[in-house]
Parts: sequence; structure tokens; C-alpha cells
Amino acid sequence: MAGRPAAGGNLTAMEIREVAVIGLGTMGAGIVEVFARAGLAVVAIDVDPGALERGMATLDRSLGKAVARGKLTEQEKAAVLARVRPADRLGAAAAAGLVVEGVPERMEIKRQVFAELDQACRPEAILATNTSSLSVTAIAAATRRPGRVAGLHFFNPAQVMRLVEVITTVRTAPATSQVLTELVRRLGKTPVQVADRAGFVANALLLPYLNHAVRLLETGYATREDIDAAATAGIGLPMGPLALLDLIGLDTSLSVLEVLSGEFGGPRFAAAPMLRRLVEAGLTGRKAGRGFYDYETKERARRPDSDTVLNDDRVAVPGPVTLVGAAAGPGMRLAEMIEAAGWPVAADPHGSGLVIVLAKEPGTDVLDAALATGRPADAVGLHLAGDQLIELIVTPMSAPGAVEAAAALAGSLGHTVVRCKDRPGFLAGALLCPHLNDAVRMVQDGHASAADIDAAMTLGCGYPRGPLQLLDQAGLGYVLTVLTQMYRRYGDPAFAPAPLLAEHAAAGLAFR
Ligand code: CAA
Repeated sequence: MAGRPAAGGNLTAMEIREVAVIGLGTMGAGIVEVFARAGLAVVAIDVDPGALERGMATLDRSLGKAVARGKLTEQEKAAVLARVRPADRLGAAAAAGLVVEGVPERMEIKRQVFAELDQACRPEAILATNTSSLSVTAIAAATRRPGRVAGLHFFNPAQVMRLVEVITTVRTAPATSQVLTELVRRLGKTPVQVADRAGFVANALLLPYLNHAVRLLETGYATREDIDAAATAGIGLPMGPLALLDLIGLDTSLSVLEVLSGEFGGPRFAAAPMLRRLVEAGLTGRKAGRGFYDYETKERARRPDSDTVLNDDRVAVPGPVTLVGAAAGPGMRLAEMIEAAGWPVAADPHGSGLVIVLAKEPGTDVLDAALATGRPADAVGLHLAGDQLIELIVTPMSAPGAVEAAAALAGSLGHTVVRCKDRPGFLAGALLCPHLNDAVRMVQDGHASAADIDAAMTLGCGYPRGPLQLLDQAGLGYVLTVLTQMYRRYGDPAFAPAPLLAEHAAAGLAFR
């Protein structure tokens, strides 16, 4: 039960002892667990009895996993479950000091739920929405207590990700955001105060990047495994974008993109047709058993440490390998790795056999170098991206035999190997640079500070470093050049470098 200030007065964070969670889908069930494990009583509400049962089963399973990993004892699990009271009507939220809503991402449903909660709940209760992108202001307007309405946005899996965005509207009372901020800290999570703009901070940045990955897949730029491996092995992200879409839910992702597109317009937010089709087919990701990957057949996104392409010693590399291109930097390192692995290297570029073009940053030089050898059919590019990834670059003239031979060679070098086209940024750069450009645009437009963006992406999405730190590390000049080349090559304004990026690069300034 919550404490008892005078009716209509403000509850403090410590006075909130009972929380109601409405909607027991993927996020709702996780949020119930987070509150119950922090010692609060939770009313877990779903008006659909089937969904309620599934949500409670998800909770039980998740706590069971925590027991199996030694994070909880059986007694603690029982105590957590004893704090959760399932219910199938909104009226069961009547005594709660805080209500967190996690029903489907449709404005009319949310507004209906909030109007009913406003009637059912104590006047001093705070009503929060876990919407991923909808206007909290519009949801609050369905109640007579907009001062006590805010967004409380958790990240999937809610039990694991440390960020909670606390979204305030022009009507939210300072006391409300203060109580929520304190409560989030009590959950052991990090609150970040965010204004009510579509997608808030993390989703506004994450979703266009995920959408771009779908475009790379649907245009045949690279395979789904290679796209995901480029993100994990090449950029160091905890999951590839397609596996992450499956985790978030393709339907949720599509609705976030639609809201972003409606609010900001522009090509980065226009949902890739493949994403829409998968949702239409009901293939919404892990929760449906299938999205980009098939979870029923236990197919999984490949771990970054396994090979993408052939690591197949049955494919012989014919004769000595001719190495052309970069005489310094990553190209040089790659040449040393090839020699150290025992591949015979030819001195004469006009001989026969496989030609490896040691590709240079920021890409698109492989075909020119291949043509210069006079035998472009034998030529394939290799590019070392960071410490773990080799990109195998196939030009329009590379013969299939040469590609397989280069794949066998690259597969022997102990790195993750991905195939892609001879286009700006190859694969990792083509994924990353537009994402970093979006982050700069957010700073430029006053949407969020560089520090807040980095905090959101490290704490909410498990990035090893925030996008602005990644940008400084990759080098502003490199990112600017890839973007300029992408913009020229595709003619797509989505890739136009942000003016602030160009200015910082010209001035030699870092973002962090
Ligand atoms: N539920 C509960 N706990 C889970 C879990 C789940 N679904 N998945 C993983 N965990 C826990 C594990 O139990 C483990 O806990 P302990 O360390 O206490 O034992 C921990 O997480 C790490 O798990 P694993 O070692 O098995 O897995 P991993 O190292 O591969 O990490 C991951 C899994 C945490 C999900 C990691 O891949 C990651 O950070 N991915 C990025 C996720 C992300 O970006 N989320 C945000 C999406 S955007 C969003 O949600 C907002 C929106 O509105 C759309």
C-alpha cells in the first residue's frame, strides 16, 4: 500500500510502496520484475486473461533463470513472486502510488487506458507511460491530472538495461519528475531527464540506424549474418541491428519509426519496406518465434567470434597471392597477417592467381586498383576494420572463384569475415557513419547534449562507448569522408553530413 498524504497532496518516492503495471507484454513483464525485485508490491494487470497468464509465466521463467545463474535463491524468488498480484481489470490499480502503462503503441488505446486510470486511481497517484515514442503530452491530456503524468521509458530487457528515460511534458509538475527520478535510482537504474519529443533520445537515434540495416539487407548489400557481425565485431556493439530488431519487436520498431517519420519527416525515418512486410506477415521477432532470425529452429544471430564466410580449407588459393594497394596502416597490417599465415605472396602483379587489393579507408578504391592490375576478375578487396573484422569486398568484376579463394584466405586469419560491395565505408563504416551523423544532428538541433546522447546509448543499448565518443575515436575526417562519398554515390539526403560535423572537423574539435 502507498503511504497516506492528504488526498491530492504529493507522494514522496519512499511513500510509493505499491506500483501497478498495465499490460504484460515483453516490456510490461520485465518492468513488473524490476519493481518486485526492488522490494515494491506490484499489481500486474492485463485485461486479456491469456496475456496475463503469459506475462506471469514470463516473469516466473525469468526469475527461474536468475536462480539458475545464482543471482537469486529459491526463497528470494518466492518472495518476489509473493509481491506480485495478478489482476485482469484496471480497477485493481486503485491503491497504487504509481502506475506504469505498457499497453500496445497506439495512441487511442493509451488515451483510453489513461482516462480509465484517472477515474480508478487515487488522486495523488502518478500515472506513467512506458511508450517508446508517442507524445506523453497527448496521453496526459486524456486525464484531469496532467501534472502527475510523465513518461518512464525502460529498455529491453528491462531487467538488464540500466537506463530509464524520465519524460516530462510542459504540464508535468516538478515534484512528479523528482519522485520518478528518485524511484528509478531506488531500482538501481540511471534516470535521464528527457523532453517530450518523438523517440525521446535513445529511440530517435537507434531506430534510423536499425532501419538502415534493414535497407542494406533488402538491397542485397550484405547478408543478415554479415550485417550483424559487422556491428558486433567491427563496431563492438553488443548485438547486431537485425538481432536487436528481433529483440525489440519489429512491430514496436515500425511504430516508433512511423511516429518519428510523422514528427520529423525525412528519409532516415521512412520504414524499410522489408520491415513493414515482416510485420504484416506476423513475423515480429523473438516474441513471435521468428523475425529476421528463426527462434523456433534455434537459429541464432551468429556470435562475433565465428566465421561468416568460408573458412574452408578445401578451397585452395591458386598459386601465389598478389597483394596490391595500401603500403601503410591497416592494409599493411593485413599484408603482414597474410604473410604470417603462410600464404605465398607473388612479387609480380601481372602474373596469375588471386589478387588481393588491400583496401584503404574510407572505401571505394577496390575496383580502380583491380582494373589497374589488368586482371580485375582475379581481384577481391580485403579491409581490416578494427581489431576483429575483415571486410571482403567484391567488385562487379570479381569472378566467383576469386571470391571463394579470397574467402578461404581471409577465413584463415583468425578474424570475423564479412562480405560486402565496393561502396563507401564498406560494411561497418556504411552502418556506423550515418548513425554517428544522426547523433551529431541531434546535438546540432538542440535535441540532446553529446554527454546525454552517450549516456543514453551506453546505459540503454549497451554500447561500449557512446556515439559521440565513437565518432571522436573513429576520426571526424574519416566519418565526414565516408558520408560525403555515400551522399555523392547514392544521392540520398539521409547521408548528407551534418553541418556541425563538417565545422568540428574543419576546426579540429572533438565532441567529447
Ligand atoms: N531477460 C532477463 N535477463 C536477461 C535477458 C532477458 N531477456 N537477456 C539477458 N539477460 C541477463 C542475463 O541473465 C545476464 O545476467 P547476469 O549477468 O546477471 O547473469 C545478463 O543479462 C547478460 O546476459 P548474457 O551474458 O546471456 O547475454 P549477453 O552478454 O549476450 O547480453 C544483452 C545480452 C544484455 C541483451 C546484450 O546483448 C545487450 O546489451 N544488447 C543490447 C540490447 C539493447 O540495445 N536494448 C535496448 C533496445 S531499445 C529499447 O528497448 C527501447 C524501445 O523502446 C524500443
